[in-house]
Amino acid sequence: MQVAPILVALALALAVPSSSAERKCILTGSWINDLGSNMTINAVNGRGEFSGTYHTAVTATNNEIKRSPLQGSQHRRNQRNRATFGFTVNWSFSDSITVFTGQCFVDKDGKEVLKTMWLLRQDVDSLADDWKATRVGINVFTRLPRRE
Ligand code: BTN
Repeated sequence: MQVAPILVALALALAVPSSSAERKCILTGSWINDLGSNMTINAVNGRGEFSGTYHTAVTATNNEIKRSPLQGSQHRRNQRNRATFGFTVNWSFSDSITVFTGQCFVDKDGKEVLKTMWLLRQDVDSLADDWKATRVGINVFTRLPRRE
C-alpha cells in the first residue's frame, strides 16, 4: 500500500478548513462599522501580523478625510475561531492615532461580527491640555461582500 499519498491527504485535511464555519473569522477582507467607516485588512501572515487601510466616515478635525494605513496583529485563532486582535490606525490627515482591540464572533445567523473598543489620542498643544487628549468608544464591524 502507498503510504505517502495517504499522509499528504491527511495533512491537507487537517490544514485546510473544511466547513464554511471554520472559514469564518479570518480577518482578511473588507469591513464596515456602525459609523459607516470601512477598512480593508490584507493577508494575515504566519505570525498573525497584518496591514491594511482604514477609511473613516467621521473626523474630529476640519481636515479632508483620507484613507489611512493600519497595522495590527491577531492572536492565534483558538479552537472556536474567535480571534482576538488589535490594530493601530495612523491617520494620514490628522495628528491623531487610534488603537482598536477586539474579537471576532459568528452570530446566530452565521454573520461575522468584530466587536471592538478604540482609544484615540489626539495631539494637544501643552501638558495643561493633556486631560482632553484621549477619547474612547466602541465600534462593531460586519463584513462587506467581496467584489467579484
Ligand atoms: C481624527 O479625527 O483625528 C482622525 C479620525 C478618527 C476617526 C475615529 S477613530 C474611532 C472612530 N471609529 C471610526 O471609524 N472613526 C472614528
